[in-house]
Amino acid sequence: MKLHVISGDILECEVDSLIFFCYEDQPLNEVLKKVDAAAKGELSASIASGDFTGKSDEIMTLYRPDGISVKQVIVVGMGRYDLSSAVTLRRSTAYGVRRAQEGKARTIAITVVEAAQVDDLASSTQSTIEGALLASYRFDRYKSHPKEVAIQAVTVVATPEQDLTAIQRGVRAGHAVAEAIYLARDIVNEPPSKITPSALTHIAADIATQSARCTLSVLDKDQLEEGGYNAILSVAAGSEQPPYLIHLHYKPDNPAMRIAFVGKGVTFDSGGLGIKPWDAMLTMKSDMAGGAAALGIMQAIISLEKAGYRINKEVDVIIPATENMISGKAMKPDDIIETRSGKTVEVLHTDAEGRLILADALAYATELTPHAIIDFATLTGAAIRAVGKSYSAYMGNNEELITCVRQSSRASGELAWQLPLAKEYRTEIESSVADLQNIGGKSSPDAIIGGLFLNEFVGDTPWVHIDIAGPSFADDNKNPLLGKGGTGYGVLLGLEILRQITA
Ligand code: BES
Ligand code: ZN
Ligand code: ZN
Repeated sequence: MKLHVISGDILECEVDSLIFFCYEDQPLNEVLKKVDAAAKGELSASIASGDFTGKSDEIMTLYRPDGISVKQVIVVGMGRYDLSSAVTLRRSTAYGVRRAQEGKARTIAITVVEAAQVDDLASSTQSTIEGALLASYRFDRYKSHPKEVAIQAVTVVATPEQDLTAIQRGVRAGHAVAEAIYLARDIVNEPPSKITPSALTHIAADIATQSARCTLSVLDKDQLEEGGYNAILSVAAGSEQPPYLIHLHYKPDNPAMRIAFVGKGVTFDSGGLGIKPWDAMLTMKSDMAGGAAALGIMQAIISLEKAGYRINKEVDVIIPATENMISGKAMKPDDIIETRSGKTVEVLHTDAEGRLILADALAYATELTPHAIIDFATLTGAAIRAVGKSYSAYMGNNEELITCVRQSSRASGELAWQLPLAKEYRTEIESSVADLQNIGGKSSPDAIIGGLFLNEFVGDTPWVHIDIAGPSFADDNKNPLLGKGGTGYGVLLGLEILRQITA
């Protein structure tokens, strides 16, 4: 995808589609008045008749309007101005771009409008570009003949009143973030035999080479043995693929604080000996979506730095990477593992493997003494049953951090709903033969039990666990920002947490 920024008259652009935005407070804004004049009053007629009002997600298309030489003019309604935010801009642009794509547009030109809750033009441009790029994501590299026509070039047209350099800056930032989300989506969408634990180490290495401030350290199987990371080793035992503990560290000059993102990196979850039925095993290539999001966050930090946006926080990305497979060497139900932290765990279900590898990864993260740990994990089907596919379910041990996650979710548009880290259920994970067991009893709340289990491995470090089993993978194509398959959920949320969090 090519991105261009120009200053001038959008009506003179030689592209397939023009995309405009308006608020219901003023459906015929200054820019659209010019469009209306060129299109001989077609727009004002639709507004006068009430066919188009500018309400949110309302969309109007003029096909080959007289007087403008494009396939379509698309106008997207954004609702009330006072309610508008970065989320509105991202979503509306995605709607417009999807409509252009449906109309077989290959090149589009867009304008940037402001939103009430967005500080400056660079930021509104950034959200607009994110929306455009996220809507045109395709994973078609395995198709001999890719079907859908994807947008090939986007031209952002600044009006004479707008500051061109602010728009250029915003385009660079939006591009950096969207590419990082593309990376997270690609990692999830690639087949499981391709994205192995070692493939994840290579992706991490590629990220680390992009910045002098970023370093990679990887614990291999021998080092995991030396360090007593027996939970990771146990989950990996049934696999031909060796496990790794991946650690990317980003350190700017004079960091204000240190934040660790831990991402579950099960590159394929068969369930282990407690094997999943075939249909539940489908999409289990996405069981490293937490790790993919964490990698996306680091990629975005580095690309944003190149675009002139530097964060002043030290960031760790930690990914326990393994498969969960079956073989004569596989971990067995009833096994007892001594984890990195020293706590012992009785394995009652080999399919509750995420919390096992995270136990060791959280212990590793805690040893770095960060100010906060945020983990992203496709941990439980129960989280999907609780809050559905659009929301993640989160819980944590620190009210301020929980508030930060809630606010960051609102600001980023990545939906998240809090569950209680209910200590009343703590007895569910008490084992009769070890310190802990990895599942609760019958009718226990599995998503919360997962959180309670992880809580055992963070000590007093402020921590939030975000169960992304639902929103990390879209089953259908309904949301124009997401499309079907890996969504990259967590990158926007994580970046917003980094922005909002304070020591
Ligand atoms: N990877 C799964 C959770 C999952 C399910 C992610 C559906 C995405 C979509 C996890 O390892 C798992 O199997 N969890 C079990 C936990 C149970 C045994 C307590 C589950 O959810 O059934
Ligand atoms: Zn599992
Ligand atoms: Zn899993």
